[in-house]
Amino acid sequence: MSASGFRAGTVLGVETSCDETAAAVVQEGSRVLSSVLSSQVDLHATYGGVVPELAGRAHLEVLTPLLADALERAGVSGSPPALDAVAATIGPGLMGSLLVGASEAKALAMAWDLPFVGVNHLEGHLFAALLEDPDVPWPLVVLLVSGGHTLLVSMEGPGRYRRLGATLDDAAGEAFDKVARFLGLGYPGGPAIEQAAAAGDPEAFAFPRPLLDEGLELSFSGLKTAVVRAVRARPDASDADVAASFQAAVVDVLVAKAVRGARSVGARGLCLAGGVAANGPLRVSVSSAAAELGIPVCLPSRAMCTDNAAMVAAAGWWQLEHLGPSPLDTPCDPALSLPFAA
Ligand code: KG4
Ligand code: ZN
Repeated sequence: MSASGFRAGTVLGVETSCDETAAAVVQEGSRVLSSVLSSQVDLHATYGGVVPELAGRAHLEVLTPLLADALERAGVSGSPPALDAVAATIGPGLMGSLLVGASEAKALAMAWDLPFVGVNHLEGHLFAALLEDPDVPWPLVVLLVSGGHTLLVSMEGPGRYRRLGATLDDAAGEAFDKVARFLGLGYPGGPAIEQAAAAGDPEAFAFPRPLLDEGLELSFSGLKTAVVRAVRARPDASDADVAASFQAAVVDVLVAKAVRGARSVGARGLCLAGGVAANGPLRVSVSSAAAELGIPVCLPSRAMCTDNAAMVAAAGWWQLEHLGPSPLDTPCDPALSLPFAA
């Protein structure tokens, strides 16, 4: 019997917090039976960033067929489907987008007489790492770097989180997106910067490493401003050099904080999560830092770093087994934070 008295078994996960519509079926929190995604990148690219109103409408258009596809691919479609629960992201994210996924998930849970589980998107990113690497040692220090968040967390086990540090201003992904937009490299900025940087010199510009030697908090807005100033002063500079130097500064800071955080709690593993964790140079640097610390590194696959619904189903499975279902009137919360221990 599980801690909550609920057997979560096979969970349908729904993710619509930002600009990816995603659905997945995961068994026992770790066996991904299907994971499908419809990206809105092309829709928002013209505007250089996510337009909330368009995002919500696009989720509405594709979610129902996407859910049918996820059930079909998982081999659980039927009437009702062979599921034990329906989980959906309830925050943080864009309210109009969250409401689409959460409302449909609640309606399906009610129609199929299944428990509903409201999942914290950030907790989903943490479970993404565990999905592919279920035997990670505790405590695990996780650097969660996405478009909206930059958090350093000590994970003492599933559901047990301690805040070590966070960005004081822009998120790391936001800095990538803003610098890419400034350079005219397109949206989303992270992959665009990484691609441009591959042909550049990371030492061409000595950009600042904000708060590098101080504590566990982070800051990226000054770095972004330094890039803008440097490019205005040297308009002939190559985009590749600017991108490479900017990326090197971000990676240096992220790795230094992750190492300091890991040392501060005696971490037994180091892990990356969130969209920016797809960044190649960051993955390489974090791996060498973990090797120097003598602890294993946990790097989710790139598809598991960026938004997806398998991570929501996995987090939902754990939540249902340990804490039980969420009431159907659970609200969406655009500013939901991780449930940190006091
Ligand atoms: O986790 P995610 O998919 O969505 C949020 O929850 O925010 O993260 C998206 C962020 C964007 O800012 C995007 O530019 C960044 O992750 N990103 C990257 C890379 N791929 C995505 N940043 C750096 N390098 C990448 N390869
Ligand atoms: Zn995310």
